Amino acid sequence: MIIFLFVCFTTMVVLQSLTVEGLNPPTIKPFHFSGELREGLRTMVMCGIIDGDRPFEFKWFKDSELLLPDKNHFSIQIINEFTSILTIEHLNALSNGNYTCRVTNSAGSDEKSDVLTMKGEI
Ligand SMILES: *[C@@H]1O[C@H](CO)[C@@H](O)[C@H](O)[C@H]1NC(C)=O
Repeated sequence: MIIFLFVCFTTMVVLQSLTVEGLNPPTIKPFHFSGELREGLRTMVMCGIIDGDRPFEFKWFKDSELLLPDKNHFSIQIINEFTSILTIEHLNALSNGNYTCRVTNSAGSDEKSDVLTMKGEI
């Protein structure tokens, strides 16, 4: 009986360490600003994780500066464990920039970026 318990315990420990070591870092599907990008419109891009183990943490950046969800020019929604959407309200010249989504889990991180360039801006 004691040996049986010992074997069970050892198996559990081995399985647990395998699970931790086997965690996959996230992979983000590339996103692109597309469609009509004009003064006054709004646009949105999706940061979707196509590979890796949860839980994930999402962060959005514009030109390497962290975007906070309470800034009224932007809104950030977590749709589900694998998806976050960034909405940029009322496009104007200040909206132009390099937007990055960074996702982190305990095994690592990934980031994808795209540059927003409004038409009619020089
Ligand atoms: C946008 O930002 C990312 C992350 O900082 C960087 O790797 C990438 O080169 C930048 N892209 C452009 C076009 O500046």
